[in-house]
Amino acid sequence: MEIGVVAGSIQETEDELIVVNLFEGVETAGGATAAVDKALGGAIGEAITAGDFRGKKGEVAVFYTGGAIPARRVLVVGLGLQDRFSLEAVRWAAAAAAQEARRLGVNSFSSIVHGGGAGGFRLEAAAQAVVEGTILGLYGYRELKNEPPDRPDPERFTLVQFDPAKVQAVETGARMGEIAAEATYLARDLVNRPANYATPSDLADVALEIAGEFGGMRCQVLSEEDAAELGMGAFLGVAQGSEEPAAFIILEHNPGREDLDTIVWVGQGITFDTGGISLKQAENMDRMRGDMAGGAAVLATIYAVGLLDLPLHVVGLVPATENMPGASAYKPGDVLKAMNDKTIEVVNTDAEGRLILADALVYAGRFEPKAVVDLATLTGACVVALGRGVAAGAFGTDDDLVARLGAASEASGERIWHMPLYEDYMDKLESLTADLANTGGRFGGVGASAMFLKQFAEGYPWVHLDIAGMAFEERSGTPKRPPYLQKGGTGFGVRLLIQFLRDWATAG
Ligand code: BES
Ligand code: MN
Repeated sequence: MEIGVVAGSIQETEDELIVVNLFEGVETAGGATAAVDKALGGAIGEAITAGDFRGKKGEVAVFYTGGAIPARRVLVVGLGLQDRFSLEAVRWAAAAAAQEARRLGVNSFSSIVHGGGAGGFRLEAAAQAVVEGTILGLYGYRELKNEPPDRPDPERFTLVQFDPAKVQAVETGARMGEIAAEATYLARDLVNRPANYATPSDLADVALEIAGEFGGMRCQVLSEEDAAELGMGAFLGVAQGSEEPAAFIILEHNPGREDLDTIVWVGQGITFDTGGISLKQAENMDRMRGDMAGGAAVLATIYAVGLLDLPLHVVGLVPATENMPGASAYKPGDVLKAMNDKTIEVVNTDAEGRLILADALVYAGRFEPKAVVDLATLTGACVVALGRGVAAGAFGTDDDLVARLGAASEASGERIWHMPLYEDYMDKLESLTADLANTGGRFGGVGASAMFLKQFAEGYPWVHLDIAGMAFEERSGTPKRPPYLQKGGTGFGVRLLIQFLRDWATAG
């Protein structure tokens, strides 16, 4: 979709459809909505009075203008209650409007910047949120479908800003929203892509393609032999049961720039998790093609970093492998040796994510990073603790890094919640045969998983994000769920990580 920004008034804008908004419970519209209402002879006001339109978040009403203004249709979108207004409501409303535009068969539409006037947000941030909501709301995974969709996506979206002096800010925000949404599309595609297409080699190809698109990027793909030479026994233990060659992907923006701060992202790249010999049950196992969502978010973030050309040394590490049962698969009770020589007893082969992350976290130390953050669909226990689609668990003891991620979370709307890393969790990981076990039973399972990772994340500030509950949307289409999420991969983390890096690049 082509995104444009123009100076002008929405009621004078000529387009197939124009979008204005309304807060819930407001009797008489103000601002641009009032101007349009007046031009329509009070039709919007009448819909409000009649109780047909209440301004609930994401509610839409369409009016035909009959030539009263240059636009053919007016769409009023609800913003919800004014005292609960947020950039999240802006994304929500923009996504609902875009979906209605598509349903109507509209090819080109224009909108005011929701939240740009009365909201009290920075205009730039509001414009970004509108564009994010608009693009993300139209996402669909169509790579493997032969039939075209029922209704094609609109091809053009224009933000209309009344004050010419503010057009620049809207343009900057819109461009940022476009980049964030485009990167999120990439992450969603990778998560939705079936495991027979999104193999470790495919992820490596994606990383190589990203590197090829930008000057000043480097991509290295380590083979299983390379990993063996480095002593990545935990990663290779998981990989040994699969016929698909594993790949340890290293994607770097501004490699070798020692004058720049180094940030390392580690993304779990389990391209399919059967559980291994500790086999999962059949129901919903297809979703385990999304067990590389952390890796997808990392690759997509670095793609955005390339577009933004951020003045940072950003490294993405994605250990990628399947977790399969089979004659050569690792077994419960096996002991693996990680890259830092620590030995791990595999109590459960389904706790494989932490094993591949262990070696990646040790490898991360080589870059002498200012911060390392891993993203992983690590535990069902985290989903039990925080819920589906509510928040990712954040584990870390570096207050500054936790606070930076918290701020980026607030700004992006991608929620994380700080969870404790009590030493007590180590007790659960005691092993008879090795330095530690890879799992310690049901209770406190999410804390134990984070504590396990901590044994390998030494020598730098580190945060672990468990995104198991956030990576895969299951209830999209119900009124309580954001319309900018569709069923399947969400691309969670991409907008959060981009925000974090932009903040770091500006503030240091
Ligand atoms: N990939 C799963 C975790 C997961 C669960 C992701 C639900 C997304 C949705 C992970 O590899 C796993 O299987 N974890 C086990 C760990 C257990 C064996 C200690 C779990 O959470 O049940
Ligand atoms: Mn597993």
